[in-house]
Amino acid sequence: MRGKGLIVTIDGPAGSGKSSVAKRLASEIGFSFLDTGAMYRCVTLACLRKEMDLGQLQQVANIASQVQIEFFADKVVLDGEDVSEAIRTPTVTKSIWAIADNTAVRESMVAAQRRWTAGRDAVTEGRDQGTIAFPDAECKIFLTATPEERARRRVSQLLELGVDISYEEVLEMQNQRDRQDTQRESGGLKPATDSIMVWTDGMTGDEVLQRLVTIVGSKRTPEMNSMTEQPLQHKPHLMPR
Ligand code: C5P
Repeated sequence: MRGKGLIVTIDGPAGSGKSSVAKRLASEIGFSFLDTGAMYRCVTLACLRKEMDLGQLQQVANIASQVQIEFFADKVVLDGEDVSEAIRTPTVTKSIWAIADNTAVRESMVAAQRRWTAGRDAVTEGRDQGTIAFPDAECKIFLTATPEERARRRVSQLLELGVDISYEEVLEMQNQRDRQDTQRESGGLKPATDSIMVWTDGMTGDEVLQRLVTIVGSKRTPEMNSMTEQPLQHKPHLMPR
């Protein structure tokens, strides 16, 4: 009964810890995992490398429909190159809003997300997964935490990476991203009306994962009852154009 195209969406703001927990959830329930933020990051990187004017909406949209993005278990490959680290630099993060605001880019990303999940059981993670990309998803989760908690977590992550940055600076950048993400005209960050809101303040990663597993379990449809604990297939998941 696998391969029914069952979808679990996880949306939420930057720093809510959704990427790591969404990936762990997918592995736990034997679903594929789609990091849609990485798709926008790949398009941003491709445009920056071509030194394009990000305000040229049509040219940027053309790039979005031409790039080939592949997802492996632990890396993201853009046109044959491992860009897992390159897409997470501050330069990419600062420019991404221009790409994410581009309606034509969003349309091609959402279409690619739907093609990618077709016939596949998947956990997809982003901002608009429950609202725009998969309004009929079997299970929708909105993962969030207070801005202060998210900024504290980010500061400790950065400290571990040897980056010395103040809490105030991180909070300010995060607030700016929150504004850009929530005010976006199409595909803006907001919980789907039928999503389950999970506040993760004070919870460990393991506790959040457990909560999500419980939620998915409570949403089980007859098809979902056939979910097995098979591990993620570690083959590349090509993003069809
Ligand atoms: O999740 P991540 O922080 O990697 O996403 C990077 C940016 O991509 C977000 O700040 C948002 O602007 C954009 N994004 C989006 N829609 C998605 C996923 C990400 O607009 N589904």
